[in-house]
Amino acid sequence: MAKAKCVLAYSGGLDTSVAIQWIRDNYDMDVVALAIDVGQERQDLETVRLKALDIGAVESVVKDVREEYVGEFLSKALKANALYENKYPLLSAMSRPIIVKHLVEEAHRVGATCIAHGCTGKGNDQVRFEVGIAALDPDLTVLAPVREWDLHTREQEMEYAAAHGIPVPTTKDNPYSIDDNLWGRAIECGVLEDPWIEPPADIYTMTNDARAEACDTPEYVEISFDQGLPIALNGTVTSFHDIIVTMNDVAGKHGFGRIDMIENRLVGLKSREVYEVPGALTLIQAHKALEDLCLERDLLHYKLGIEQKWAELVYNGMWYSPLKEALDGFVETTQKLVTGDVRLRFFKGSCVVVGRRSPYSLYDFDLATYDATDTFDHKAAKGFIDLWGLPTKVWARQRRKVGKEGEV
Ligand code: ARG
Repeated sequence: MAKAKCVLAYSGGLDTSVAIQWIRDNYDMDVVALAIDVGQERQDLETVRLKALDIGAVESVVKDVREEYVGEFLSKALKANALYENKYPLLSAMSRPIIVKHLVEEAHRVGATCIAHGCTGKGNDQVRFEVGIAALDPDLTVLAPVREWDLHTREQEMEYAAAHGIPVPTTKDNPYSIDDNLWGRAIECGVLEDPWIEPPADIYTMTNDARAEACDTPEYVEISFDQGLPIALNGTVTSFHDIIVTMNDVAGKHGFGRIDMIENRLVGLKSREVYEVPGALTLIQAHKALEDLCLERDLLHYKLGIEQKWAELVYNGMWYSPLKEALDGFVETTQKLVTGDVRLRFFKGSCVVVGRRSPYSLYDFDLATYDATDTFDHKAAKGFIDLWGLPTKVWARQRRKVGKEGEV
């Protein structure tokens, strides 16, 4: 009888390579390896594909999903100005739902009953995989070998690998745990686990050191948006994908886009995280600047709360959830007139908005100006303040009367 099949989210690294063998040994299943290209630093994915077959996968597939990642996922994050805890642009949290989508599709294609991932039991990614899979096909089972096996140290894993003829990394061990895609790069572990220690210079690959390596001349960049999404750079029509790639380069060159933060993981612990997100932070900053110009005040303010909730849901693995979908609907309607240009200046680690314009700008020069063309009714301000401040006045008088001045 044919064996049951398991689709494994395969990266080509040690954990998921060992997992191929481990699943076969412990669950007697055929493993189908799936590697997803979300724009991570170039590895040769054909080599990754062949490696899985070499280790014993019955099938090995590589899918380049970069366009879909940008079009269906990052576009939503940008429209929502998504920053978890007002800082982290969710790069890992953004890639998991698209990986999940393709894992489930692949499981259906090959008739698998099970999906496996290489996450540990301490992070957010396991939640994102498993809740995502449950949302798309609640009948699939999930295997998390790294959470289950008794290979507690890297040495034990290497021994297991050597004993089973699994190729082990020959390069010097990287002490960091790294996850990256088009939206940026996350660096964890090693000395970074001490929140008092400054991150060593060599952990960075996307951004220059703002003091030592960044360019000595400022650079101006103009980004044009149409309905909330970037469509041109310096007047040249460019795809959103290529705009992200270019802004990663430009901002990174000027040393902009590093984050060093303490973050609250869903599983209850605080962790120290370092991120390189030059393109993501640049685009969110520019997008917000345009919204400041185009969105009516109440809508803008209300959206800030929605953005925070959106980021929290996505961070917490709820990409495929009714609330997140409903919030997408809200965000989408806010973007209809977020069209225009934003000019940015990069210099020595900074990215500053220095100009913005839009055919739908709500900025009214005649209302804002202090010069002769002023149309603002200064006298009306008096009546407005009288009524606006009326409750405060009533409160102050009453408290004075009862001898409790200033008390709430
Ligand atoms: N703390 C970030 C998050 O939860 C980054 C996780 C990075 N993942 C990794 N496997 N290194 O989204």
